[in-house]
Order: sequence, then structure tokens, then C-alpha cells
Amino acid sequence: MLAVEPLEPKRHDRDRFACGEPTLDAYLRRQAAQHRRDGISTTHVLVDDVQPSHIIGYYSLSAAQLLLTDLLEVDRKRLPAYPVPAVRMGRLAVAACEQGKGHGDYLLAHAVARCLTLRTQMGVRVLLVDALHEKAASFYRAYGFRDTAATSQALYLPLGTG
Ligand SMILES: CC(C)(COP(=O)(O)OP(=O)(O)OC[C@H]1O[C@@H](n2cnc3c(N)ncnc32)[C@H](O)[C@@H]1OP(=O)(O)O)[C@@H](O)C(=O)NCCC(=O)NCCS
Repeated sequence: MLAVEPLEPKRHDRDRFACGEPTLDAYLRRQAAQHRRDGISTTHVLVDDVQPSHIIGYYSLSAAQLLLTDLLEVDRKRLPAYPVPAVRMGRLAVAACEQGKGHGDYLLAHAVARCLTLRTQMGVRVLLVDALHEKAASFYRAYGFRDTAATSQALYLPLGTG
């Protein structure tokens, strides 16, 4: 059975993770655990209980904000003229040998669900992502993410108004 767990360096094998983007592999190996300790970001890994040390994929989250003018006009309605509170999913990656099996879709849905839970405890208006390249941006757009006004590398998903 699949599960998403907080990254635990003693339990999860970070060294073998390879997704095809060296910067995303290096982050998991060298920085993710330290960032969690320092309160910079949290990293959540997808594992299977048959081989629980094998990291299938991961995402990381941190608090963020963006300018009101970064949102499309339709998403600015009724918002005060303050920075918009956000959660940033700075990284999302699936191991190359596991890609194309729906794990990216699963991890993204998991991150969105986590943001919706957070939204009951603190103000969070959007989920922000940094796309490494245009291919990644098109992956996010397929899920309803919208380009920020600032750059098409940063996209956001409105988290609802209810
Ligand atoms: C992008 C990535 C996370 C997708 O994960 P995945 O497990 O391969 O994706 P899934 O199997 O869940 O596919 C979900 C959908 O996204 C599409 N998709 C997969 N990779 C894509 C890519 N690189 N660009 C655009 N669309 C992509 C799939 O075709 C699928 O759409 P469909 O359901 O209509 O067929 C993964 O390919 C990856 O880690 N790539 C390297 C790192 C990277 O580019 N990360 C992006 C964030 S910066």
C-alpha cells in the first residue's frame, strides 16, 4: 500500500533517488532534512509498504506569499490590498523508474489536500509552485494552475473561497 510520510533520513534511502532533474535529486539528498530542522520547508515522501525505504517521489512545502497583482484579476476579487498568503510546493519529483504510473498526480492531490487542511487553521489562499521548465509548467496547467503575472515559471492554484 502507498503512503505519504514525512522524510526520515534514517528510514528513507535518499541516495538512490533519481528523477532526471539533478537539482531535485540533490535537494532531497543534501538539503531537505536540514530545511525541515531549520523550519524552512517540510518534505513528504511517497513510499510503498513492501519496500518502505525506497522513495517513489516527494514534494516539499513552505509558507509563502505573493503580490495581489500576481493573481489574475478574476482571483483578486474581494481580496484586501495585502500580500496573498500561500503555501509553496517548491519541489515535486517522481523517481524516473516510477514515472508515468500516476504517482505525480497522487502526490499533487496529496499536497492540495494538505493545503486545504492547513486552510482551516491559518489563512492560505493559493498553492504556489515553481516550475523548473515549460514542460513542468504544462503539467501543472493541466490541473488548473494559472500563470502568475510575474513569470510563467511560477503558477498558482486557488484553494477555494468557502
Ligand atoms: C513531472 C512529474 C512529477 C510527473 O510525475 P509522473 O508520476 O510521471 O506523472 P503521472 O504519471 O502522475 O502523470 C500525470 C499526468 O501528467 C502528465 N505528465 C507527466 N509528466 C509530465 C511532464 N513532464 N510534463 C507535462 N505533463 C506530464 C501525464 O501525461 C499525465 O497526464 P494524463 O493523466 O492526462 O495522461 C515527473 O515526471 C517528474 O518527477 N519529472 C522530473 C522532475 C520535474 O520535472 N518536476 C516538475 C516540478 S518542477
